[in-house]
Amino acid sequence: MTLLDDSFPESLASAPITTDSVEPPPMTGELERDPGMPASTWRLRSDAWEYLRFGVKRIALGNDDESALTGDGEIARNLRALETIEMYWAGFGQRYVRDISELLRKGDYQNALDRIGRVVQRLRNSTVPDEPHNDLIDEIERLEITDDCDPRPRFEVLVIDETTAGDRDSMRAENMRLRSAADQFIYDFVVVPSADDAIAALLTNPNILACIIRPGFSGRTTQALSRDLRDTITLAWESAGVETAPASSSLSSVQRVVRLADVLHTLRPEIDLYLMAGANIEDLAGALSRRFRRVFRREDQLELHLSLLRRVSHLYDTPFFAAIQDHARRPVGVFHALPVARGGSVVGSKWITDLADFYGLNLLLAETSATSGGLDSLLAPVHTLKKAQELAARAFGAKHTFFVTNGTSTANKVVHQALVSPNDVVLVDRNCHKSHHHAMMLTGARPAYLDAYPLNDYAFYGAVPLSDVKQMLLDYRAAGRLDEVRMVTLTNCTFDGIVYDPERVMAECLAIKPDLVFLWDEAWFAFAAFHPVTRRRTAMAAAKHLEATLKTSSHHLAYTEQQKRLFAEDGTPAPDEVWLSERLIPSPDARIRVYATQSTHKTLTSLRQGSMIHVYDQDWVRDAREPFHEAYMTHTSTSPNYQILTSLDLGRRQVELEGYELVQRQLDLATSLTQAIARHPILRRFFRVVDAYDLIPEPLRGIGGKMPLRQGLSDMWRAWREDEFVVDPSRITVEITKTGVDGDTFKHDYLMDRFGIQVNKTSRNTVLFMTNIGTSRSGIAYLIEVLVKLSERFEELSEELDPNMPLPGEVPMPPLPDFSAFSSEYSTDGIRPDGDLRAAFFQGQQRGAVEYVSQAELSRRVAEGERPVSAGFVTPYPPGFPVLVPGQVISREVLDFMSVLDTREIHGYDAVRGYRVLKP
Ligand SMILES: Cc1ncc(COP(=O)(O)O)c(C=O)c1O
Repeated sequence: MTLLDDSFPESLASAPITTDSVEPPPMTGELERDPGMPASTWRLRSDAWEYLRFGVKRIALGNDDESALTGDGEIARNLRALETIEMYWAGFGQRYVRDISELLRKGDYQNALDRIGRVVQRLRNSTVPDEPHNDLIDEIERLEITDDCDPRPRFEVLVIDETTAGDRDSMRAENMRLRSAADQFIYDFVVVPSADDAIAALLTNPNILACIIRPGFSGRTTQALSRDLRDTITLAWESAGVETAPASSSLSSVQRVVRLADVLHTLRPEIDLYLMAGANIEDLAGALSRRFRRVFRREDQLELHLSLLRRVSHLYDTPFFAAIQDHARRPVGVFHALPVARGGSVVGSKWITDLADFYGLNLLLAETSATSGGLDSLLAPVHTLKKAQELAARAFGAKHTFFVTNGTSTANKVVHQALVSPNDVVLVDRNCHKSHHHAMMLTGARPAYLDAYPLNDYAFYGAVPLSDVKQMLLDYRAAGRLDEVRMVTLTNCTFDGIVYDPERVMAECLAIKPDLVFLWDEAWFAFAAFHPVTRRRTAMAAAKHLEATLKTSSHHLAYTEQQKRLFAEDGTPAPDEVWLSERLIPSPDARIRVYATQSTHKTLTSLRQGSMIHVYDQDWVRDAREPFHEAYMTHTSTSPNYQILTSLDLGRRQVELEGYELVQRQLDLATSLTQAIARHPILRRFFRVVDAYDLIPEPLRGIGGKMPLRQGLSDMWRAWREDEFVVDPSRITVEITKTGVDGDTFKHDYLMDRFGIQVNKTSRNTVLFMTNIGTSRSGIAYLIEVLVKLSERFEELSEELDPNMPLPGEVPMPPLPDFSAFSSEYSTDGIRPDGDLRAAFFQGQQRGAVEYVSQAELSRRVAEGERPVSAGFVTPYPPGFPVLVPGQVISREVLDFMSVLDTREIHGYDAVRGYRVLKP
């Protein structure tokens, strides 16, 4: 058994959230089934080294005796873990671990400790510069430490081949020889013998940016890996359509190489693959070129070296940022608008120079309203912005990407306007962001509102079950109006982290109407493209996969078979129950028309309002390009903000080079936070993490447990592959009923005012903590510390509470109101749910057509059987969805809900005069 097996101490594997990482967390003796490989390898490695230092130091100082070195002790287990972990990382390697084991075996604790200490320092990038002169350091280590000090960005290259230690040494020597002072980056090799190890390396080591496959690799790993890592490797093979590692010699070497290339590409598509071949290189080049960037012969080391560097320089390239920097350095005379350009109106001012002091002069030097000199125009990009958007399309797996400098609010309006016309029906979650409702008001499309399932215990909504979407399409078909339905738009993931399976949703909807367009509002989901588990639930990955699936003969066959069950011989459709119970298979001729809007600024590096629209549309040129262009022109400023555009360009560079690392860390840190809340005795008394069972009603649940990532990455992987809904682990909804304060008070009075902690969303009895790619271990540690302090305070306060009075979060709330209906004047046919929101909205703008009516008066009218009609949108924050839209009948349910709402902000409702109601 190794440390990577089922015996790793939980405190190392899952909750080492300490701000000071010198002292390891106390060992509880409690064991977790899995050691956090691969989900938390990023910290497992440094934690294991740090623990080793702690343990060996205790022996060296005489605080522990040699019994601490026994085979099942922490020290030995850490060493065994590191032997495997280090195999997947360049640099220190297993050699160090073996040397240290040897020193410990000989009882040379001080030297072992020194060596471990140097490793820890190197891992922290804090090598002291004069260390290379230390007499105890051997020549190899001295060279390595000198090399560590090279300031150039460093990446790792995975080589997959059976090798000897001698081979590996000569590869490294050759790499050093080829390095030149002119190289922009440097790289090191990670060498693994088998296909399984290659997958393990890609999963655990995010520094790897390129792979070289040499046909001599074997299939299965001989390492003792954790259950989770082994299962994840199997899942990785399956996800590429391959059962297991190609161990058998029955496969030709081309097949083995192809399979491995496919699985590595599915796992981390940003990674470039190279093939190093022997005699039959010409044949291979023809057969394999689509999968590999290049095929090399072994002697072409220099070419390979240059290709590796060149490829990374392509990822690093930020064309718009480069143009902005160039502009800032040029002496330019300003004879256009924008007085702040080059600091003009600021640096000479008596009163506002603090603007430049605060933000730095570069902000102004880079400002211009000109699009000449390489800066390009966002409205008609031809060079740097065009290139930057093409690179973003590559990164996010889109066919086309467009930058938006006014948030996803605008991105949504662009897409709606581009794709729908007046009177088209759009199926949309009523609980969606208001920009969709506004877009429909602008375009004149008729929304058919879908109701997400309510989570009444927490006063927010879940998501729309697929069966409801299908039923609505079937209803339109039965009414002979299916041709009017143009688009389906859903929010993935929801604010609270509920994630759809977009491929399944699209496939089943296309089976009913094969030319539907989909708009996925991924305002909160841009990060998901950079992790193999979350990626498959992004719209772009789903579109690509669906497109490929439709082309396969097995799909064709399955479709033909299913059609026999769905239609009688005379073409009559089977009853709806059959259509609802089957997992519908779309026609191979269905069109893939998918759009995603992302607030890059919400989850990735970008200044506020930086958003992107990603397009995967087979009918783009024929049907969408021109209207999209017009819509983009309509909503895009002629003075787009250059800083936002620059940050989008850089945000793209970041995700291509380190997106996997950042997302892996974000998911893992979030899991640590949930564990800390769940396990801490005082936190458990006041806070409860809302899990997938709370957020997904029983009939919609699948195989995933309450928090799959807590069990391991493979559990999460399976749930994300199979289940209709899953929960994004990086969002943590915490129920706070027992604190005795409501969500809004908790957010403002406790978290923000006392401790400067910002959270975005609360409900009556919940607070949503979001982790993101900028979240650090110290940040999580601080939050936990604050929650503990608050719990102590709540404990004091609870003694003063009247036990007979319910706490604010316990007061029963009326259920969240469903969409009632459009009134008969605005409903299209009085049967189907769509209506003319636009006509109602503009009617509501006529002064004489509207009256203000108080809540009490409206309640009276409704009780007497009237059906008052809302003149506008009424949107309380939280929960943040419009409880009323123009033309909607004001129902008793809406009034009941509003009567107990105590939120500070209700847009569209006048607290003094009441609701705006259309006069009959
Ligand atoms: C689901 C959803 N879509 C769109 C938006 C608007 O995004 P932005 O703030 O980038 O305009 C939001 C904002 O919260 C949102 O939650």
